[in-house]
Amino acid sequence: MNITVVGTGYVGLVTGACFSDWGHNVLCVDNDESKIKMLKQLQMPIYEDGLEELVKRNVSEGRLHFTSSISEGVNFAEVIFIAVGTPPGYRGAANLSYVEQVGREVAEHMSDYKLLVEKSTVPVNTFEQLKRTVSKYLRADIPFDVASNPEFLKEGAAIEDAYNPDRIVVGVESARAEKLMREIYKPIIDKTNSPLLVMNPASAELTKHASNSFLATKISFINAVARVCELAGADVEQVAKGMGLDRRIGPLFLKAGVGYGGSCFPKDVDAFVQIADHLGYDFELLKEVQRVNKSQRDFVMQKIQRELWVIQDKVIAVLGLAFKPGTDDVRESPSLYFIPQLSEARAKLRLWDPIAAERFAQLYPNEKYFKDPIECATGADLLLILTDWPEVKSLGPRYAQESDELPGDY
Ligand SMILES: NC(=O)c1ccc[n+]([C@@H]2O[C@H](COP(=O)([O-])OP(=O)(O)OC[C@H]3O[C@@H](n4cnc5c(N)ncnc54)[C@H](O)[C@@H]3O)[C@@H](O)[C@H]2O)c1
Repeated sequence: MNITVVGTGYVGLVTGACFSDWGHNVLCVDNDESKIKMLKQLQMPIYEDGLEELVKRNVSEGRLHFTSSISEGVNFAEVIFIAVGTPPGYRGAANLSYVEQVGREVAEHMSDYKLLVEKSTVPVNTFEQLKRTVSKYLRADIPFDVASNPEFLKEGAAIEDAYNPDRIVVGVESARAEKLMREIYKPIIDKTNSPLLVMNPASAELTKHASNSFLATKISFINAVARVCELAGADVEQVAKGMGLDRRIGPLFLKAGVGYGGSCFPKDVDAFVQIADHLGYDFELLKEVQRVNKSQRDFVMQKIQRELWVIQDKVIAVLGLAFKPGTDDVRESPSLYFIPQLSEARAKLRLWDPIAAERFAQLYPNEKYFKDPIECATGADLLLILTDWPEVKSLGPRYAQESDELPGDY
């Protein structure tokens, strides 16, 4: 099947590359011409394990193509995935201007039936707005559908997730749309038996925000437990282990640390609170999740202050700049909270990250970057571990012996 994917970022590029690997013909569209130029030269604009090889293979086998032309994208396929960013906007609500723009551009170039699929994370009932937008800008009476197909991949394991999805959620309003979505995912369902859940678009959209908010809740919960443990003389890692072995709870997302970060959890929780508010429900539980997350960082900052007393001129080695291991993504990374503050307090910072250093250095070009974590840490008054990279886990004798998990970010 021919498929167009609009937005060639962490989600769009992985999705497009995987679809092509499953045998579909895929055209990835991005209005950032520099990205498309790089991709045409088989250079990756982002880091994701296994992505380069996947892209190269499918380009060379003729199933994966790139363009900056939306009209080419619209003409190429019956199904058009929208995988553009939905960053935080006014008062924490999602900024949907990129989604709207794609809806408008697709409508302006449509000459026959299209299925527009929301891959981006969007607030519940966005599909109604998207339908309105497409109808408004259509040049003729052309039939179309809008579906929701939220993405659950984790950066750092994105390809693995695409190949072994826990579930595929599809929100549709017509049999035609459902048939197309089933055809797209057939190759991977045949292989893995992953469940494909068909529901209405509002439920599909909401499933994504509810899932991310629940995971964020788990993180804030264990961080709150960690604070109580510290006051009570208990060990949160032991407590988390004891909790996690209960199958009703599960061991994942029970690592106490500096709080959740990244391009999804903070913005998706904020957006979910906003949507609920807008609909007339005060989601106090999630507001507390947000508060705990923020206070966890402030708490670690206070700890640093307590430990060093005077921060000025103290050498602080920061291991990990990415918001989680396996990615070069630094959006909403804890490093962006700590480093500016420590820099302002005139600490002597030494920074290390195996993949994200280059991206971070674009934001903070004047800091000192190290290629080796040991060299970075040597002679430091304080070691701040912000990402649980495997290289860091193997460093200290305590962590190496006692646990393969570090307090870190998600
Ligand atoms: N990154 C993740 O781990 C993840 C996981 C699940 C869901 N999501 C959701 O997926 C969406 C995309 O996230 P991302 O991390 O891939 O974002 P990203 O910023 O990496 O990529 C978005 C891409 O869209 C392009 N774009 C914007 N407007 C465009 C337009 N009008 N036409 C063509 N291209 C356009 C940008 O140039 C960019 O390359 C977001 O809604 C996000 O919340 C992200």
